[in-house]
Amino acid sequence: MDAPVCARIIGPFPNQLGVSMAAIKVLVVDDDLNIQRVLVFTLKQEGYEVHVASDGQAGVEMAAAIGPDLVLMDVTMPVLDGYAATQQIRAAETDGRRVPIIMLTAEADVEQRVKGLRAGADDDIVKPFHPLELMARIKALLARGGTAVGPVAAARSTLGRLMTFYGAKGGVGTTTIAINTAIALAKRHQRRVALFDANLQFGDMRVFLDLSLDSSSVVNAVSEPDLDGDLLRKLMVTHHAGIDLLLAPPNPEQGDIVAERQKSDPGSVANILGLLRAAYDYTLVDTSRTIDDFTLQVFDESDVIFVIMTADLSCLKNVRLALETMDSLGFERTKVRLVLNRSNAYTGINVDNAESALGRRIDHQVINEYRGAISALNSGEPFMSARPDTPLGQSVSKFADAVDASFASAGAVPARG
Ligand SMILES: Nc1ncnc2c1ncn2[C@@H]1O[C@H](COP(=O)(O)OP(=O)(O)OP(=O)(O)O)[C@@H](O)[C@H]1O
Ligand SMILES: [Mg+2]
Repeated sequence: MDAPVCARIIGPFPNQLGVSMAAIKVLVVDDDLNIQRVLVFTLKQEGYEVHVASDGQAGVEMAAAIGPDLVLMDVTMPVLDGYAATQQIRAAETDGRRVPIIMLTAEADVEQRVKGLRAGADDDIVKPFHPLELMARIKALLARGGTAVGPVAAARSTLGRLMTFYGAKGGVGTTTIAINTAIALAKRHQRRVALFDANLQFGDMRVFLDLSLDSSSVVNAVSEPDLDGDLLRKLMVTHHAGIDLLLAPPNPEQGDIVAERQKSDPGSVANILGLLRAAYDYTLVDTSRTIDDFTLQVFDESDVIFVIMTADLSCLKNVRLALETMDSLGFERTKVRLVLNRSNAYTGINVDNAESALGRRIDHQVINEYRGAISALNSGEPFMSARPDTPLGQSVSKFADAVDASFASAGAVPARG
């Protein structure tokens, strides 16, 4: 077969430090001359050896011929589009080798992005992008060896624990505690942690963590007929505080799709939770307050349910109701733990009063620090990553330490299907 006329090699070039990085080969597959120019210039500057192909077919052939360390793949191209080219590159791979592929997508359309990930891409970036962002993604992918959750991560044994955070009343601090506990478990205990925003209608982790609406979510995960750990990981968002997020749908309508899917096929949700258990030490689920089929399934699959409460009368009434409901549904009492948030806020009801009203112990307490909690929320940076040493940070750290101690002593559990 003729060598593609559009293919050419550029480099090696020394980077700004004068160190040759010729060994790292990047294959750019894009038919747009301007994009080619920008990418070649930027990559050259960083010291990469750059190869260029102007259509998907040429990209597949060149990937086979040169064995690149990373591929940047456009989507819409003549002869063979980026999805098909990615699939062909993957199909030709042998010996466990897997070249990292970043799709260069035209729109922040989740469907298009998922299609690319399904075809075998490892990451994507929406055009137009800032060269610095592209470089950061290239480096992150190369550092991970190409695949986010590959066979290595999946094979590593995890604690595989699933815990649900359920607010006895709106606004008691469930999301705040779930997010910051997740970060504390990752940072203080070096655990692999996933956080699942299962508040299908009004999940607000995107707000808490300053994430855009176009990130993929659980609606993409339940819609995948062949969801495996690899694809699920790609549908999750990595937060710089060291945790991976499975986000709630971006709007209530899409939340309904997940609820419907759960009704018609509860196995789809069980599969997601099972895959999370297999890949993470801890999966923390932030549920909605409505006890519907979806929430019940999550309760059922959880090792522990943390009921978040505050010490006021209406919340105590709700906790009592929630405990009675869980009793009647047959959940073991030991599976449910009470977490009193804002424990030192003045409400006229102290811990002893609350315990005697409920007839059971409060298992954990988190202190009240309105300013710290709200300024973290407004800045989109959780206090556990920005200011872990504040009294509120220390209080949640203590809770996370207790959680880790109770689970870690029990060791790893086999992932459920
Ligand atoms: N320990 C705390 N001390 C002071 N303020 C807190 C504390 N925990 C949470 N808050 C504040 O309480 C408010 C509600 O918190 P959050 O959204 O986490 O609650 P929620 O139970 O998840 O609410 P929703 O029912 O809307 O999901 C936020 O303004 C948050 O900053
Ligand atoms: Mg919440």
